Amino acid sequence: MRIVITGASSGLGKHLALGYASNGNELVLLARREQKLEEVAALCRGQGATVETIVSDVNDFEMMRTIGAQLAQKHIDRIILNAGISVGHSAGITPFEDFHRLFQTNFLSVHALLEPIIPKMVEQKSGEIVFISSLASLISMPTSVAYSSSKRALNAYAEGLRYQLIPYGIEVMNILPGFIDSEMTQKNKFKMPFLLTTDAGVKQIMGAIAKKKRFYPFPLRFYAMIQMSLVLPQFLRDRIVNFTNFKKGE
Ligand SMILES: NC(=O)c1ccc[n+]([C@@H]2O[C@H](COP(=O)([O-])OP(=O)(O)OC[C@H]3O[C@@H](n4cnc5c(N)ncnc54)[C@H](OP(=O)(O)O)[C@@H]3O)[C@@H](O)[C@H]2O)c1
Repeated sequence: MRIVITGASSGLGKHLALGYASNGNELVLLARREQKLEEVAALCRGQGATVETIVSDVNDFEMMRTIGAQLAQKHIDRIILNAGISVGHSAGITPFEDFHRLFQTNFLSVHALLEPIIPKMVEQKSGEIVFISSLASLISMPTSVAYSSSKRALNAYAEGLRYQLIPYGIEVMNILPGFIDSEMTQKNKFKMPFLLTTDAGVKQIMGAIAKKKRFYPFPLRFYAMIQMSLVLPQFLRDRIVNFTNFKKGE
């Protein structure tokens, strides 16, 4: 299989790369930090995979379109759009710059890369497009307005793209993890409910991809709690959010 993974230098992307690194698999790994990316590539080659690394910033949209076009010259079995950032801030007004950065990295970059790849998959009449969204896309906390907004936009994109591509035999999957140990979450100062180890989180993601899950929120108990809160009247939700640590970002 030829598998493209963005954000493969650390965290979930790195462990997904390692998870798919086996004889016969050809991995294309993207991220900005060259040394870390090469370390991941070396580990993957050690497990028998063929690996190409592309050191690039997903916020360089022209570059993403060029890379997408180059990748589309060969068959692509799966692309995992995993590169992403979060920005920690207090419950005050979110700076515009944070919105800009998060929407660029977590949302707009995705279509810049996919735009030239989608026609290739349509021509192939096969392929898997996997988005790494977040449970935070389902409920927006006072300290995660920009992050939640960017991931909710990603959900809308994933949903629409799925309907567009079903007739061509292309699988579009949207994975919504809760908290998983990674460089991203290690910065969080607040208590993270249902925090998973990186291995456990990546195992769930790989399992969902293997089963071609269209929409996969996890851990289930965290998702169930969010769903239950979403059916409550707004005034009750306001009170619950007010009592959580999230309101302080600590
Ligand atoms: N960990 C969680 O609890 C959790 C929960 C829900 C969703 N997610 C999502 O999972 C994805 C992976 O996050 P993670 O937890 O594994 O965090 P991480 O360890 O910080 O990894 C983020 C990856 O994205 C890459 N990246 C960030 N900005 C980039 C840019 N401008 N250009 C290219 N690559 C960029 C980073 O590589 P470079 O810095 O080398 O470029 C890194 O490889 C994100 O989309 C995140 O929103 C994570």
